[in-house]
Amino acid sequence: MLILTAVPDFIDFARDELRRAAFDAQILAELEPGVLLAGGDFFPLAQQWQTQPPIFARHICPVQETVPVAGTNSDLARLTQCITRQFLDLIEPEWPFSVQARIFANAVYKPFDINSALADVIQSRTGAPLDVRQPVQILSVVISSQTAYLGLSLAEQNLSDWAGGVRRFAREPEQISRAEFKLLEALEQFKINLPPRGTALDLGAAPGGWTRVLRQKEQYVTAVDPAQLHSTLQADKSVRHLQMTAEEYLTQYPDTFDLIVNDMRLDARDSSRLMVEYAPYLYPHGLVIMTLKLPKEKRRTAIDHSFNILKQAYNLQNARQLFHNRSEITIHLTKTENFS
Ligand SMILES: C[S@@+](CC[C@H](N)C(=O)[O-])C[C@H]1O[C@@H](n2cnc3c(N)ncnc32)[C@H](O)[C@@H]1O
Repeated sequence: MLILTAVPDFIDFARDELRRAAFDAQILAELEPGVLLAGGDFFPLAQQWQTQPPIFARHICPVQETVPVAGTNSDLARLTQCITRQFLDLIEPEWPFSVQARIFANAVYKPFDINSALADVIQSRTGAPLDVRQPVQILSVVISSQTAYLGLSLAEQNLSDWAGGVRRFAREPEQISRAEFKLLEALEQFKINLPPRGTALDLGAAPGGWTRVLRQKEQYVTAVDPAQLHSTLQADKSVRHLQMTAEEYLTQYPDTFDLIVNDMRLDARDSSRLMVEYAPYLYPHGLVIMTLKLPKEKRRTAIDHSFNILKQAYNLQNARQLFHNRSEITIHLTKTENFS
């Protein structure tokens, strides 16, 4: 068995991805909107998704043991017994671990209580180091109204290092927009390191959250948007704001860039067509990060059309619905070799 998590509004897409990857996987229950308990073997699915990740399934974890629970403090003793009997021998003592609990029921305890109680036992009995930020092995514990589901896996098998794929970033006082989290999450998830002093084009930049993140990564930014940028960016000499649309900038002999990001509020297909027009202004080694805003209806068609359009100039490296995406997905592109 396994547990799969996606944005509730997109759970049917995730369910289809699961069916396509593991057609023996039956959906056994919906534990919470966006959280499915499925039959089938976790590990072959995880292996397949490590090389060909799904777009909408945000997180998976295995279920190897179940424990009856009542939402009372006696559950903690039962969970401890279970991991002592079934999991301690499987924990690799050299590898950092974490316990990731999620609770979808009324209970007197919080995820933190389970995490710390079980982590204490694992640490003291196996000597494995606890590392909640970069674990190598993860014990997942999902509590529903009557049952706790427990499973041990490698972080890289779960599609995300975070419980349920919920990646939260600390809010900084200087933060300009919530959209900043989207870019931070994309860079982390797609393992993209931006070398300092690169040149970046930010299409649809206002009010400037992505531009601020790019400046923190020491990029020189050309920010294109008819709307105003935040005042802190207006004073930054390494930010050039072109107060115009992306279509207008195309007519003005754009520069060439190491990175193009695009978070324009535009239909996914129109945005993709524009990105193809921008391809000549991306260096061959360059990369693109963009969001594809999905319509309410025919979302699959919109994605397929957009990918087909982008194929004219780019290779699709990654496409995921990240925790900070709502009705959109984030993609990572590189230029095709034969595109001039
Ligand atoms: C979601 S906001 C971008 C937020 C930004 N990434 C941030 O972090 O602050 C979308 C922006 O796209 C801009 N936009 C929409 N159509 C555009 C176009 N054709 N050319 C340039 N910008 C456009 C809007 O003006 C709006 O500021």
